Formats: sequence, structure tokens, C-alpha cells
Amino acid sequence: MHPTQEALPRSETHLSRSHMRAEVISGLTRRPKVIPSKYFYDERGSRLFDAITELDEYYPTRTEQAIMEANVAEMVARIGPKSLLVEYGSGSSRKTRILLDHLPDLAAYVPIDISREHLLRTAADLSAAYPGLNVLPVCADYTSGFALPEVEGPIERVVVYFPGSTIGNFEPGEARAFLEHVAEVAGRGGALLIGVDLQKDPAIIEAAYNDKKGVTAAFNKNILAHINRELDAGFDLDRFGHLAFYDAEHGRIEMRLVSLSDQCVRIGSTRIPFREHEPVLTEYSYKYSLEGFAALAAAAEFEVVKVWTDPERLFSVQYLEVR
Ligand code: AVI
Repeated sequence: MHPTQEALPRSETHLSRSHMRAEVISGLTRRPKVIPSKYFYDERGSRLFDAITELDEYYPTRTEQAIMEANVAEMVARIGPKSLLVEYGSGSSRKTRILLDHLPDLAAYVPIDISREHLLRTAADLSAAYPGLNVLPVCADYTSGFALPEVEGPIERVVVYFPGSTIGNFEPGEARAFLEHVAEVAGRGGALLIGVDLQKDPAIIEAAYNDKKGVTAAFNKNILAHINRELDAGFDLDRFGHLAFYDAEHGRIEMRLVSLSDQCVRIGSTRIPFREHEPVLTEYSYKYSLEGFAALAAAAEFEVVKVWTDPERLFSVQYLEVR
């Protein structure tokens, strides 16, 4: 989730816009061209992503939810009483409610999200739904530094919750660095409950990113509309096509926007040339084997102690302990 610029004070808006301009122009003057995937998530992008999670072809969300529902008793037994549950990129904390329904004795629940408005609304909803729960929201970009809030009373362990297979949107080096950071936050005796999408028949994966209704294509192209609005740019969305394919060698979906003609696009006062068929990389979505993810976890000082999957082994929810 990323903030609507209106939600930020003026100085932050200005800062984040100049940062966005620098990142976008740097990415588009590179070969091959790239736009960071975090720019998908303006208000419309977040709504389109929500729509993606409801699509028949997009198996990850409903499969993860089913795994959570089927195994919640075992999950909460591992989390245990008096834990501090910290959720990264909490959004609307939908899947978290499955855990919270069975965790009456948490030390506190700490949702972390960059979108302040969304975060505070969700925190208020959860406080109303779970009156005994201590909800301590932190507005931060969880990939950079933040401090855990002070909690009154004893804490048995810190458990980080990171659902949705967002780990798949990190490149392997970034994923390892991210897990190392989580291990530091969780500390000795701490743990991570994480959703991880699995390698499978490429046709199933490719269908999830090429849905018949064209919602993923609209989500992909919306990144250009976001740039147009924020950076006074002139992308014509009809002159770019959506492309998503599974790269089996790297075990990842690669999502691209492809220029449909030779064209020159203005971003403020900068002009960016595109050749016909030239691709712009917008997202990787890595799919892991269980062995591959265990090796990644081990490199970051975690041990996978339990894996839950669905009967078709499409998706996994994994419990990792800091070694
Ligand atoms: C957020 N993330 C886990 C999604 C994924 O499947 O990689 C983003 C997405 N991109 C296209 N469809 C969904």
C-alpha cells in the first residue's frame, strides 16, 4: 500500500514527488527500462489490486486465506500467549483477523503501513472489533528503518506477520536483506509467519497475471497514469501493451509494459524516447520451491519450522524461527 499524496503534509508531498521523479527518470533512462513497482499503488492502483485478488485466475489470495482458516489453531499455538504480533504492510489486515479471532492474549498488535489514513482507519476498526486488544499502529515504510512502539507488560516473543507473498516482489538479494532485517526486529526467540507463493505449472501462474477481464493489464498500465498525474507526464496509455510471462529459469513472473510504436514521452521537461516493441519492466513476482525458500531463510538466520500448504500445493504459509 502506498500513500495518496493528499494524505501527506505539503513538505512530505514535495519531497516524495521529487524522489519519485528522480527514480522514474533514472529507471526510464536505463537499458532495459524499468519503473519501480511501488508506483502501482496510487488510490486507483490499490483498488485495482483489490479487484485482482477477487479474480478467478488469481489463486494466491483465496488459497492463502483457505490455508490460514484450515490451520489457524496450529498457527496460534506456535505464536503463543503474550506475543507481540507485528504486521508488515498491514493494509486492511483482512487475513490478520483470522489470527486475531484466536489470539485473545496478545501483548499487542502492531500494524505497520505507509498509508497513514488507511492504517488509522484499520486500527480503529480492529480496536472496535477486538475490545481487549492493544492496537499500536506505526506509520512507516517497512523496508526502511522504524522503531517498535513501547508496550506495557511482559512480551514472550515478537512474531512478524508478512502475508500475501509480497516477498515475491523482492529480487533475491533484496529478499535476503529484508529477511535479515525482520530477524533483527523479531530478535532472539522471535519468529516470522509468512505467505510464500510456490512454483507450479507455468500455465496456472501465467493465467493469474493475464486475466480475461483485463484487470491486471489495467493495473499495469495505471502505473503510467500515476506518473502522468504526479509528474506532469504525457504517457498515452493506449500506446503501451501489457505483457506478463513466467521465466522458468529464474522462477518468476516478469511484468512489462511494451511500447506499441516509436514514440517520445515527456515527463515534466525531460523527454524519453521509446522504440516500437521496447519493454519497460514493471514487476517481478518470484515463485519459490520449498527448498529454495528454506535456503533463502537459512541465509538470513531463520529456520523454517513449519509449512502449511493447500492440497494442490499452489501456495504456502510458513513459520520461521530466528536461529
Ligand atoms: C502484491 N504482489 C504479491 C502481487 C503479486 O502477485 O506479485 C502484485 C500483483 N501484480 C500483478 N498482480 C498482482
